[in-house]
Amino acid sequence: MKKVISGLVLACITMSVKAQTDENLGIIPAPVSVQRQSGYFKLDKTVVLVSNEAPNAATADMLNAYIAAKGGFALRTTKATGTQHAIILSSDGADQLPEEGYTLKVDAKSITVTGKGAGLFYGVQSLMQMMPEKKGDEIDIQASVINDYPRFKYRGMHLDVGRHFFPVSFVKKYIDLMAMYKLNNFHWHLTEDQGWRIEIKKYPKLTSIGAERSGSIVGHHPGITTDNKLVKGYYTQEEVKEVVAYATKRFINVIPEIELPGHSSAAIAAYPQLSCFPERDTYIDPKAPWSGSRKGKQVQQTWGVFDDVYAPTEYTFKFLEDVLDEVMVLFPSKYIHIGGDESPKEYWKQSPFCQQLIKDKGLKDEHELQSYFIARIEKYINSKGRSIIGWDEILEGGLAPNATVMSWRGVEGGIAAAKLNHNVIMTPGSNGLYVDHAQSKSPDEPVNIGGVDPYSKIYAYDPVPAELNADQQKFIEGVQANLWTEYIETGAKVEYMVLPRMMALSEIAWTPVAKKDLKNFSEDRLPLHLARLDKTSTNFWVPGPIGQSDKELDGDNITMELKAPVQGAKIYYTLDNTRPSEVSNQYTTPLKIDVPKGQKLDFKTIVITPNGKRSVVSDTILNNGAK
Ligand code: ACM
Repeated sequence: MKKVISGLVLACITMSVKAQTDENLGIIPAPVSVQRQSGYFKLDKTVVLVSNEAPNAATADMLNAYIAAKGGFALRTTKATGTQHAIILSSDGADQLPEEGYTLKVDAKSITVTGKGAGLFYGVQSLMQMMPEKKGDEIDIQASVINDYPRFKYRGMHLDVGRHFFPVSFVKKYIDLMAMYKLNNFHWHLTEDQGWRIEIKKYPKLTSIGAERSGSIVGHHPGITTDNKLVKGYYTQEEVKEVVAYATKRFINVIPEIELPGHSSAAIAAYPQLSCFPERDTYIDPKAPWSGSRKGKQVQQTWGVFDDVYAPTEYTFKFLEDVLDEVMVLFPSKYIHIGGDESPKEYWKQSPFCQQLIKDKGLKDEHELQSYFIARIEKYINSKGRSIIGWDEILEGGLAPNATVMSWRGVEGGIAAAKLNHNVIMTPGSNGLYVDHAQSKSPDEPVNIGGVDPYSKIYAYDPVPAELNADQQKFIEGVQANLWTEYIETGAKVEYMVLPRMMALSEIAWTPVAKKDLKNFSEDRLPLHLARLDKTSTNFWVPGPIGQSDKELDGDNITMELKAPVQGAKIYYTLDNTRPSEVSNQYTTPLKIDVPKGQKLDFKTIVITPNGKRSVVSDTILNNGAK
């Protein structure tokens, strides 16, 4: 026990030192400018919290709750700025700051955070991140001056709740994580082939039928069988309001996605008239014949893209307008996401109604029919004072006049849309922003959709394509990471997939390119943030040791110099092809490894955090002339 305690104390001291010596004071995303000054502000229970403006009350209270949890004392709040030792939250002069910007000044006498609304909130987030662990009865905060504001106005995280359902409590936790990292748009993917997740009062079958599926395939698509386990759940309108209010308090806009015309099997199961062929049984993936019943229309039980999509009939348009009416009451967001991706044209080709409509409207083909569909929905949404976002397929067949394009199939859609003077949100899977991909090549990675995209790939990505000229670049509103949940059944696995990738996203969304520094991010700040998370119930992917290459190394005497990727974590290794664990050799100082002539050694490591979280096993082949 004694040993455990001293280890913990040591970890805390190291963490404090790290936060204070780091050039960015431990803050993620790195601020625009940080000037370290000499001295400290001693935060103890004699400090008062000054917050004079009513709109700042919630932010002040959030800070006080954080101090109470961290320091074991809450601050007395007051409206007067006197001579006391004080933390002052103020919107005075904030109108001069850039949008969402803040300043943070720390000296021995006071801490002043200046900002308005989101700006003040972000200043407080930075202040919270700067706080080292308590020393005795006080928290010593480095004297400094920070000026900060975001690079992009749109900084998003997406969550697919269609493939798997996550309760409101988890959605709030996701929003909390986003807020810590200054992300400001939560893209809530609410409807899918495998589940409709939002209550629509006018169409109750959307949730009584569409929110339940009888099973899911087992294993990676096409799987081997079905698990026959019911997956069900939806958000009531009251719950949606609760989530929106929760997010708003954290300066996060919630964008609902109502997918159309594809990915609509769950709605079609509830109301078969929405299909071109209401009488046909469910379209079943021929590769996964075990994926549920084909009788009638069913909520899909496998993953993929299905031919049965909304028919462009008056019945469907009325249905969608009714749905959107209810959605727009619940979500104040300027943006409403209407999907538009992966909508096969097969049923439209087969449908006499669709073919006639193509002729009547003078359209060239089914792609133009999709554009007609999207443009009609856009017109309706615009008539309510809102704007649409669509996935980049909405470019095919002609872009709806005011649409914002979310570029996911690489960056090309975003480039094309910006050249057409349309707003763009970059979320290319090719650049690491699909966080349903694996985070390493290790076979230990849990089942995932495929691809290997560690956080460093996100970090390396610049959302502004070099192909655009300065005028066109202005259409890049921001960047987002997407989490599709085919293979993600639990909140713990969501956390595993998004952390630490969400932190890398925040830095490319917020920090000026000139300040990007992967080494400082990975080696100085991330270990601190992950160590804090390690003390909570939040799960995360534990990186492999800093300094370990996944490339083969050649030589007869190879030096391995490693660092823990989580403060206080231990690294264990083997050289005999066995799986490393806490009973293996512990790495403490640089290792010089002799590799016998003509042989290869497999240097395997594992990282184990103070709280027992484990990395996957990382491998480096050490080769001394072996073929
Ligand atoms: C998508 O990943 N189908 C937008």
